[in-house]
Amino acid sequence: MSETFYVTTPIYYVNAKPHIGHAYTTLVADSLTRFKRQRGIDSFMLTGTDEHGINIERAAEARGVPVKQHVDSIVEEFKAAFARLGVDYDLWIRTTDPYHEASVQKLWGILKERGYIYKGHYEGWFCGSCNEFKDVDEKTDQPVCAIHEKPLDRIAEESYFFKFSAMQQRLLDLYRDHPEFVQPEVRRNEVISFVQGGLKDLSLSRVSVKWGIPVPDDPAHTIYVWFDALANYITALGWGNDHYQGFDRYWPALHLVGKDILRFHAVYWPAFLIAAGIELPRTVFVHGMLLRGGQKMGKTLGNAIQLNVLHGHFTNDMIRYFLLREVAFGQDGEVTYEALIDRVNSDLADGLGNLASRTLTMIKNYFDGVPPRPQAAGTEFDEDVRSILESAKAAFDGEFGSLNFSRALEAAWRGIARVDKYITDHHPWKLAKQDSNSDELRAVIATAYEGLRHLVLLTVPALPDATRQIWRQMGLGGEPLHINPNTTTWGEGLDISKIYAISPAFPKLNKEKIMAEIDSESTTAPEAQPPQPQTAPTSKIEPAKADSEKIAIDDFVKIDLRVATVLEAERVPKSDKLLRIIVDVGEPQSRQILAGIAEYYKPEDLVGRKIVVVANLAPRKMRGLESNGMLLAASVGESGRPVIATFAEDVPNGARLK
Ligand code: MSP
Repeated sequence: MSETFYVTTPIYYVNAKPHIGHAYTTLVADSLTRFKRQRGIDSFMLTGTDEHGINIERAAEARGVPVKQHVDSIVEEFKAAFARLGVDYDLWIRTTDPYHEASVQKLWGILKERGYIYKGHYEGWFCGSCNEFKDVDEKTDQPVCAIHEKPLDRIAEESYFFKFSAMQQRLLDLYRDHPEFVQPEVRRNEVISFVQGGLKDLSLSRVSVKWGIPVPDDPAHTIYVWFDALANYITALGWGNDHYQGFDRYWPALHLVGKDILRFHAVYWPAFLIAAGIELPRTVFVHGMLLRGGQKMGKTLGNAIQLNVLHGHFTNDMIRYFLLREVAFGQDGEVTYEALIDRVNSDLADGLGNLASRTLTMIKNYFDGVPPRPQAAGTEFDEDVRSILESAKAAFDGEFGSLNFSRALEAAWRGIARVDKYITDHHPWKLAKQDSNSDELRAVIATAYEGLRHLVLLTVPALPDATRQIWRQMGLGGEPLHINPNTTTWGEGLDISKIYAISPAFPKLNKEKIMAEIDSESTTAPEAQPPQPQTAPTSKIEPAKADSEKIAIDDFVKIDLRVATVLEAERVPKSDKLLRIIVDVGEPQSRQILAGIAEYYKPEDLVGRKIVVVANLAPRKMRGLESNGMLLAASVGESGRPVIATFAEDVPNGARLK
């Protein structure tokens, strides 16, 4: 059977809005899936939402809406947040999906039949936010959850129990025989000492919670939410249901989880599966927390970096790269906007972005845009650069595959630095002055181009959008996501087309300015922003609207104005007025826009320019071509001459104007 890969994220509670902590695991899972796919491995990524339990019931009550309506609306927010980040999952599971509910009941039935579930009485303390029973000193009148700092609920009711106590030795055998089951090592040791401390039987149902899956044959009881939630990893693949036939193909999984939910995944979950006689996951890989001011970012402290703020200033690739590179996966890591800007400027703008633009610019200038390949004897690729890049590739693969993303990227960036130094050492600009057709110049530029080609392929999982953009600018065909760097040979025959549109993949960010904007955003609610002062109308300019015609801010926000870069531009045949332009609006795919500016702008003057587009305009056909958006321009003078709106400073594609 060929190798397959199945990765899961935790399923997210729908009692809070998505923030960067949720985005973290999801982006990592997405990058890993891209890494495996690029290497030809049949892969499946699962994510979704955890929608049952007392806390969700309470959140809906607090909003005064029916629980289903509450969860539906938050699920949409999570889906939109992940779509905006460019996450490409294979399945979104909701624990309210009927196929999941039926399979959870089936799993319950198996454990019951095998003698692992019995009925009893539970008395103790419970945290609705952790969804966990807590061992507390019984003398305390009103104990508080140490994590959420909220009072615990007192529970005294009939309950079904899981025979956890019977699982201790089997779990310890598992950790001993399969050291890869819990990673990193420090988490494995934590779990072993917890289980060695003894396991009490676990209360597995509640009569005081209604929002959940009923116990089969005893619907007064609701199944414990973690039993329901953990089962998602198998029900999604079609275990116990026929909504999908993926269990035999993809199971066992790699589970990515935060350290706060280690015990549920590394102790409860294998215990349930062992009891049911189901194969165990391959690995539970535990990551650390993103911190702000030394504390976990999240809803509890209200200190999370907000995704909408990030999107206003940074591209998806910048966010993804930063999270993979800055925080060692498995450890806690402080995350700040300043560090993000520094990473973008040093690694992306000055690193990969600069290497790409200097290489492509030289090809444009010295070779009329046709990338040189070594031809005659004596014009070989540089052997040293080649071998350093081959070892960077091997190191990248080993580290990324072991989830050491930061070190994998360090290896790739060593390759970038090497090619950069090679160019500087061989000063092609001097060679070009001496003889623009020399073999040496050809060999130097060919080596740089070839090095760049391999480096772009290597960085695809961390920079899916920018690498595609650079690839296209290099005149290369195909989808880099589907080209395996390990089977791409150095100097192989390639079908390369001419290079003509070069735009920087990563504009340099102005730290001071962005920080000032972020600071003012966090103190100004969008509704509270005063309207911009109008400039006094002159006779040639259409007067501003009278008060009665003014629109509300709600009307304005319907218009999705985005920053874009023009990648290509050409005249529309048989039209004096229309230009066809291809723009990068910060989305996975570029867009085509038709603009009536051909009488005033030459196509070649537009390529590489930053513009503003109306991104949510319904598509329209002109001269048989579809236009997907509108370019903004001022209309000047009697003739209505268009002057394209642009920026005096660098701004990332996709940034919203508001
Ligand atoms: N619903 C449970 C998981 C059930 S999985 C069968 C849950 N949900 S959660 O929404 O509270 O958290 C989901 C994940 O987000 C956890 O892995 C948690 O560690 C992660 N994070 C939340 N805040 C985080 C940070 N500040 N940093 C990193 N990850 C964080 O728990």
